[in-house]
Amino acid sequence: MKFTKWLAAGLCVCTLGASFVGCAGAGSGKSKVGVSMPTKDLQRWNQDGDYMKQELEKAGYEVDLQYAANDVATQLSQVENMINSGCKVLVIAAIEGSSLGEALDMAEAKNIPVIAYDRLLMESDTVDYYATFDNYMVGTIQGTFVKDQLDLDNAEGPFNLEITAGDPGDNNALFFYQGAMDVLNPYIESGKLVVVSGQTEFSDVATASWKTENSQSRAETILSSFYADGTNVDAWLCSNDSTALGVANALAANYTGNYPIITGQDCDIANVKNMLEGKQSMSVFKDTRTLAAQVVKMVGQILKGETVDTNDTETYDNGKKVVPSYLCEPVFADADNYEKILIDSGYYTADQLK
Ligand code: BGC
Repeated sequence: MKFTKWLAAGLCVCTLGASFVGCAGAGSGKSKVGVSMPTKDLQRWNQDGDYMKQELEKAGYEVDLQYAANDVATQLSQVENMINSGCKVLVIAAIEGSSLGEALDMAEAKNIPVIAYDRLLMESDTVDYYATFDNYMVGTIQGTFVKDQLDLDNAEGPFNLEITAGDPGDNNALFFYQGAMDVLNPYIESGKLVVVSGQTEFSDVATASWKTENSQSRAETILSSFYADGTNVDAWLCSNDSTALGVANALAANYTGNYPIITGQDCDIANVKNMLEGKQSMSVFKDTRTLAAQVVKMVGQILKGETVDTNDTETYDNGKKVVPSYLCEPVFADADNYEKILIDSGYYTADQLK
């Protein structure tokens, strides 16, 4: 239904994918695609941005790639500039899912299609597609790892657990948390797992902006309040690598007990190094090359008026609509398989992990 709208807006539809360069676009004759990323502070978004730019350019598009320094007002004005400068499609990884309403209204008024990248754009009808990894599955992988490592079905226990989740403004954070807690909650309820701090609700364990410092300072408080007497923390569920790093830093400075199982996500270089040194137990690998390739394909399908590939039309309700989504598959990573999935696949060089 959108196609007719986009066509009415003057979008040119070609039959040849990469040769879309002959169609409408600002200045160079190429169609311009706006790519808005949240921040350069976290390794993964730099990789996402680089791959997106590279793949879009290979496919014949002009690319306006912007990073917003984790500042919502900056992201809003960057997206508005993309709209005003003639971008034909917007790809947005939001800092805060609900804060880009004004820009999305502008996109709607100009009939510019919008793809939410990795993080869902909330409370807006204007989001056409969503491409991400299966976020609930990420949490399930983390929770199952804790369950298996502690052998919760057989070991006597009880075991002590702490939980660190992500940014409340990021819809993904709740999915990661829920995926893991659905595995672990039965053991918390039976008493096999004890959250000594008592902090289990998402609002108690969330980490503003996913920042390492915020995760570290909360972990320091927990360690000094509940573990200073020599109590062991057996596992620390962390939703991603930046928060896992904060917990590892806090443990290094404030804890003398047995080192806990720590989960993560992203396979950031610092965290892979920590896994190799035994300071983090696992991570979840989300190959940003796969996600970027999928989104570039979506952009092409939209601009050519083709059916856009999606594989989930039920899960991601943004408060206004269920957004048709493409979910890529996350992969378990640890010190045993990192060479195969990270180095052999060309994602990192061996030198980067030294
Ligand atoms: C992403 C994670 C990332 C986190 C912090 C989430 O939306 O899905 O991969 O670790 O943001 O940037």
